[in-house]
Amino acid sequence: MKVDVLLGLQWGDEGKGKVVDVLTPRYDVIARFQGGPNAGHTLEFEGTKHVLHTIPSGIFHAGKVNVIGNGVVIDPVVFKKEIDALKARGVDVAKNLFISRKAHLILPTHRLIDAASEAAKGKEKIGSTLKGIGPAYMDKTGRNGLRIGDIEHPDFLSNYNKLVQKHKVLLAQYNFEYNLAEMEPAFFEGIELIKNLPLIDSEYEMNRFIKENKSILAEGAQGSLLDVDFGSYPFVTSSHTITAGTCIGLGIAPTNIGEVYGIFKAYCTRVGSGPFPTELNDETGELLRKKGNEFGATTGRPRRCGWLDIPALKYAIMLNGVTQLIMMKSDVLSGFEKLKVCTKYKYRGQLIDYVPYDVVNEPIEPVYEEVEGWNEVLDHVTDIDELPQSLHKYIAYIEKATGLPITIVSVGPDRKQTMLRDIMVK
Ligand code: GDP
Ligand code: IMO
Ligand code: MG
Repeated sequence: MKVDVLLGLQWGDEGKGKVVDVLTPRYDVIARFQGGPNAGHTLEFEGTKHVLHTIPSGIFHAGKVNVIGNGVVIDPVVFKKEIDALKARGVDVAKNLFISRKAHLILPTHRLIDAASEAAKGKEKIGSTLKGIGPAYMDKTGRNGLRIGDIEHPDFLSNYNKLVQKHKVLLAQYNFEYNLAEMEPAFFEGIELIKNLPLIDSEYEMNRFIKENKSILAEGAQGSLLDVDFGSYPFVTSSHTITAGTCIGLGIAPTNIGEVYGIFKAYCTRVGSGPFPTELNDETGELLRKKGNEFGATTGRPRRCGWLDIPALKYAIMLNGVTQLIMMKSDVLSGFEKLKVCTKYKYRGQLIDYVPYDVVNEPIEPVYEEVEGWNEVLDHVTDIDELPQSLHKYIAYIEKATGLPITIVSVGPDRKQTMLRDIMVK
C-alpha cells in the first residue's frame, strides 16, 4: 500500500502527535522521517498527557510497528528519557520500536555548538531549541557524522573521540564555557540502551511493508514553514519537513506516497525567531496564548500567536501536495465576536497572495478579511453537525480559499476531542 503522510503546514506544534495517535488504529506502521528532539508531540488520553520527542506517536497502541527513519537525528540522552517515561507508563518499546541504522547521532558536543552559536548570534539568533539539531545535520551533510549503525562497530569510541576533537576546535572559536565530561556519561548510557533495541535497515523494511500491503503513516515533525529550503531562511530548522522529506527520510519512492494530510491550527503560532506576518503583539495575541496554552512542549517557551495566514497555508499546501486538511484548536477561537483571516500581503507597495523570497529583511504586512466568530464552548462536542454555524462557515471559508476539504476537526487536546468527517479519505 502507499504511504500516507501527516505533516504540519505552519511553524510546527499544529497537533501532529495528537492526530497521529488518533489515526494509528487505522495503520500497521507509524514512521518518523526527519527532525529529532527539537520536536515535542503531545498526546492526551485517559486523563494523562505524554510528550514524545523522537519516538513516533503510534507507540501507545500495542501491536503497531513504530519506525525511526534514516532522516531523523537521535540524541541518546533524550531518547533514553523518553523510553524510561514510556516504561513507567507500562509501554514496552522493545517489541514495537525499530531504529534505522542510517539515522544520525546527536553528540553532546552538537548541543554545545548549538548553544555557543546561538549565544554568539545574540539578537540575531535563530531561537533554536538548543537540542543540537543544526550541528548534527551539518555533520551529516558535511560527511562527518556518526550514525546509529556505527555504535555496533568496535571502533565506535575512537570515532566518537575523533569527531569530538573536531568539535572542540570549533568550540574554541567561541567564548563559551562547557564541561563535556559532565555530559558524556548520560550519552553513553543512552548508547548502551540503543544497542539493545532492534536496529534495522529501514529503507528495506519500509519497502517490504509497502510490498506486503501494510498500511503506513509517516509522521512529520516541525512544520512546512520551518523547512530548510522553503521556510524563512535562516530562521528554519535543518531538515526537510515537507512531503519530499518523507521519501528521503524513509527511503521510499515518490510514487509510493498516498494521502497527504496537512495539519494546521485555526490560527497561527511560532516559537523562536523569524518573520511571522500575522503575529499579534497585543492583548488578542496574549489571549490566544492563554486560551490555547501556547507554550512549547520541548522548551516551555511562550509561543508567538497570530491570525490564520492563507497565503502561507496555500504555499505549504503547494509544496506538500496536500490532499486533505486537518484543522486543530477551533475551541481556542470560541468567544471572539469577529475573527481575522489574512488573505493577502502588502509587500513593496503591492498586494500579493504568495510568499515572496525576502521575508526576513523586507516588511510584509497582512491584509485581513473579517469573518464571524462563535461563542459556544466546543470541548464537549462530538458530532460535527453540532458545531456552531459560524464555525461551519469558517471551515467552508478555508476550504474555498485552499480548494481542499477539511476532513478532521479538533476541539480539545484529548484523543476523544477529534471529529472525523465522512468525507475523510483513508
Ligand atoms: P505537535 O508538535 O504538532 O505534535 O503539537 P504540540 O504537541 O507541540 O502542540 C499542540 C498542543 O495543542 C498540545 O499541547 C496539544 O495537547 C494541544 N492540542 C492539540 N489539539 C488541540 C485542540 O484541538 N484544542 C486544544 N485546546 N488543544 C489542542
Ligand atoms: P514540532 O515537531 C515548533 C523551531 C525552533 C526554532 C527553529 C530552529 O513539535 O512541531 P532547531 O532546534 O530545529 O534548530 O530550531 O525551529 N522548531 C520548532 N518549532 N515545533 C517544533 O517541532 C520545532 N522544532 C524546531 O523554535 O525557531
Ligand atoms: Mg510540538
